[in-house]
Amino acid sequence: MSTGGFKNRVFSGAQPSGNMHLGNYLGAFRNWVLLQEEYECLYCVVDMHAITQWQDPADLAASTREAAAAYIASGVDPKVSILYNQSQVAAHAELAWIFNCVARLGWLNRMTQFKDKAGKNSEQVSTGLFVYPNLMAADILLYKATHVPVGEDQKQHLELTRDIAQKFNHDFECDIFPDVQPIIQGEGTRIMSLRDGLKKMSKSDPSHYSRINLNDDTDTLMKKIRKAKTDAELLPATAKELAGRPEAQNLVSIFAALAGQTSDQVCTSFEGKGFGDFKKALTEIIVDKVAPITEEMLKLQADPSYIDEILRFGAERARAIAEPILNEVKQVVGYIR
Ligand code: AMP
Ligand code: TRP
Repeated sequence: MSTGGFKNRVFSGAQPSGNMHLGNYLGAFRNWVLLQEEYECLYCVVDMHAITQWQDPADLAASTREAAAAYIASGVDPKVSILYNQSQVAAHAELAWIFNCVARLGWLNRMTQFKDKAGKNSEQVSTGLFVYPNLMAADILLYKATHVPVGEDQKQHLELTRDIAQKFNHDFECDIFPDVQPIIQGEGTRIMSLRDGLKKMSKSDPSHYSRINLNDDTDTLMKKIRKAKTDAELLPATAKELAGRPEAQNLVSIFAALAGQTSDQVCTSFEGKGFGDFKKALTEIIVDKVAPITEEMLKLQADPSYIDEILRFGAERARAIAEPILNEVKQVVGYIR
């Protein structure tokens, strides 16, 4: 993939708002791990994004460590990739301010995630929530990252990032920022709620039964799958025939993502079986893949100072890349330095 003379670099992040779940793992973390060999990677725990919605200060640090533990337990190697929490690198906030002055109000008004999160309450949400996509653009462009692995729900934010980069380059007649390529790949880019196949599996869903958390114990996990919504029909021979059965489709794609198969292959293996049988196999594969992650997360979280040390080390490495780029931007903007 051409990156127009820019060095290949990967950036991604997740919010530390508790409840790291299977959607995060399949849509994001798992792909991050695969990219480590080929690219220089930065994986950030975006605590500045998290506070766009209320976070109890007593919980934020623990959630930040939980997110870092989830990255590591999923296979992110903090000696290879740069793993840190966003607020330790002040340059994110500085570049975000510049982007607040580049992005147009109309662009942000079109962001569907803001509309979803604000709901009917848009007069009462924080202004940070509204400009959140500008901070996300800053996260990526602060490192001139060329590739961003995310789940499907972040597509619109990445299009905005590209618009901001282009407008900045155009307005300031420079070529500082690359054309960012999203990486949205695999069967798990959009895992749905276990209670409602039309709703995304999400950290903020009030129903615990809607998601598999990465720190669920095996009993909880089994119960959640047993209670997962399905329908009375049998599994068909092809994935296409699952149309109109969102819950069935979701469980098949979770199985496919974990087994490294396509949904079609899963249908072929389970054709004519009911959900009783399918759920047994699904439980087995989820336990098989998730239990080692859970175990490793718990081990890591038992030693908070170890995680903090990793985050500080990562932040130092991140600052070393970010600072010269921010200086270049400041010069272009006309700031005295
Ligand atoms: P978040 O939990 O919103 O901070 O998301 C962190 C990463 O996980 C992003 O790359 C998201 O696109 C991805 N992600 C979140 N929820 C899901 C889901 N239900 N299915 C697939 N990917 C997801
Ligand atoms: N907005 C992303 C989410 O909620 C998290 C995020 C923040 C991110 N900054 C990023 C993802 C930069 C990729 C790149 O999932």
